[in-house]
Amino acid sequence: MDASAPSLETPAGNDAGRSLTIRNLRKEYSPGKPVLKDVSVTIAGRGMTAIIGPSGTGKSTLIRCINRLIDPTSGEIIFRGQDLAKLRGKELRRARRRIGMVFQEYNLVERLTVIENLLCGRLGYVPVWRAWLRKFPAADVDRAFHLLDAVGLGDFANQRADQLSGGQRQRVGIARALMQEPDLILADEPTSSLDPKTSVEIMELIAQRAGERDIPAVVNIHNVELGRRFADRIIGMSKGEIVFDGPPNTLQDSDLLAIYGGQGWLE
Ligand SMILES: Nc1ncnc2c1ncn2[C@@H]1O[C@H](COP(=O)(O)OP(=O)(O)O)[C@@H](O)[C@H]1O
Ligand SMILES: [Mg+2]
Repeated sequence: MDASAPSLETPAGNDAGRSLTIRNLRKEYSPGKPVLKDVSVTIAGRGMTAIIGPSGTGKSTLIRCINRLIDPTSGEIIFRGQDLAKLRGKELRRARRRIGMVFQEYNLVERLTVIENLLCGRLGYVPVWRAWLRKFPAADVDRAFHLLDAVGLGDFANQRADQLSGGQRQRVGIARALMQEPDLILADEPTSSLDPKTSVEIMELIAQRAGERDIPAVVNIHNVELGRRFADRIIGMSKGEIVFDGPPNTLQDSDLLAIYGGQGWLE
């Protein structure tokens, strides 16, 4: 993209400039077999959206297209004045830095400490040789400690990641995502590896922190009740298409039947 491309910066409070608009997004891993079938949706500039749907329906593919872990086959992903689907190289790296990603399996560097995991989340901002020497700017270190407090891990900064429980690891994952000062949080089944109580705490934390930053969060979640409890909007997917879209209190059993096609969604 050239230098005359629209700026990433938009005035605070301008919801239209902060929303995510997906148009006709298509993904085929093998030609002629779309996993996402021309999905179109606009996510508002604040609030949590939960994407529910059976396994294999394209939820992860959708999230990975948005942050460009995979390349869409066609379609547009408009965010902060740019089409993420078309970005390459430096422009793509710059845009991706503003998207905080939370993973099911946490994706921490196990042999590094908690604080190092956060600071490595800033690798986009720190020259590689500096990260290797573990020399981080003081402002980043301060910010990392502040974020650890914010996710309830203030006392764990110097613990190695491999000594933490699943819930603690996911808190680190959330803090690492926030370290990027994201304009958008994407979470792919962030609670699937956690027990029910911890799952509630993690969803609450994502909703709280996204709310505090006043940015949208899009969360893939197989647990319908968790989605209902914490999201402002539910998107139901089936076979690569959106078959339900509305506030949680409008989601009926008949909608769940359409989404899950008679599969045991209550189990
Ligand atoms: N890297 C890949 N290569 C080929 N097929 C894939 C790949 N990733 C996912 N798929 C297929 O795409 C479909 C949707 O997968 P996915 O997006 O992971 O669904 P969900 O997250 O809803 O379970 C599935 O049929 C899956 O097997
Ligand atoms: Mg998935």
